[in-house]
Amino acid sequence: MANRAGDCNSLHGPRTVTSEQSPKQAQTAAQNPPAAHCVRPGVPPGGLPVRPASRKHKAMRILYLGDIVGRPGRTAVRKHLAEIRAATGADLVFANGENASGGLGLSAEVAKELLNAGLDLLTSGNHIWKYKDLHAFIANEPRLLRPANYPPGLPGRGVFVLRKDGLPPVAVLNLIGRTFMTAVDCPFRAADALLADLPEDARIRIVDFHAEATSEKAGLGWHLDGRVSAVLGTHTHVQTADARLLRNGTAFITDLGMCGPMDSCLGMSVAPILRNFLTAAPERFEVAGGPVALTGALLDIDPATGQAQAIAPWRFDVR
Ligand code: FE2
Repeated sequence: MANRAGDCNSLHGPRTVTSEQSPKQAQTAAQNPPAAHCVRPGVPPGGLPVRPASRKHKAMRILYLGDIVGRPGRTAVRKHLAEIRAATGADLVFANGENASGGLGLSAEVAKELLNAGLDLLTSGNHIWKYKDLHAFIANEPRLLRPANYPPGLPGRGVFVLRKDGLPPVAVLNLIGRTFMTAVDCPFRAADALLADLPEDARIRIVDFHAEATSEKAGLGWHLDGRVSAVLGTHTHVQTADARLLRNGTAFITDLGMCGPMDSCLGMSVAPILRNFLTAAPERFEVAGGPVALTGALLDIDPATGQAQAIAPWRFDVR
């Protein structure tokens, strides 16, 4: 990876589109993307670079969606994915799917539903083991990752090099944090080991770090700065306002947010959660209703070097 990232001078609002856009509006949005949060020198101010056909190395554009929560989240992804691809110009769309079944966990059936809907790859986290039928599924489906730093003996894998026709290879790494979470193996050393084993042509390297603590997420970002294209936080379901390029060229955001109901506590109905906070008595949590949004980040990456050119927080409101 190349060395020095540009200064992050432009701090604009998140990229937001809605399902009310006409195809014409969506095309216009793709051609004139709104403000990017952080871009390299040479990228026109006010937007992720539109990819001219004449560029020597066409940037790879990846849309990474935050945790998909329950039926509302996965229905929105399924229904709007084609339109979102067209509007963003994304070559690949990835998502964290570990809460797509009932707001907690991922069944084999729902994992298939999301992959069949057109997501190119799913990552996961601490709830991935909830559904027993997933254990056999994940053992045979390389496009569904589980954190690599669980102790040995569990099925599935934490890294995959996706080779899609006509696109450069993209390595996706899935890791989980240990701070305020189960004490699994060290994610920092696991990342080092995974990177050492990657094929040389996998220059684009995306890390989903599923973690609770902002400090641990920032720490992994700096640990991998210059060695991966992006470190993207998941798990806390709230999109953070810190998307940026780190010193040595790695794109970073503390949390991508979620795809799910927004009038909620992290996607779940407010009332039982409030009762639980107010009384400390156990409550049954359920996926909330109401308006749904998809949030995540858009990345432009130079396939020749693997270096990120831009990262922008992204949001799509379903109406
Ligand atoms: Fe999680």
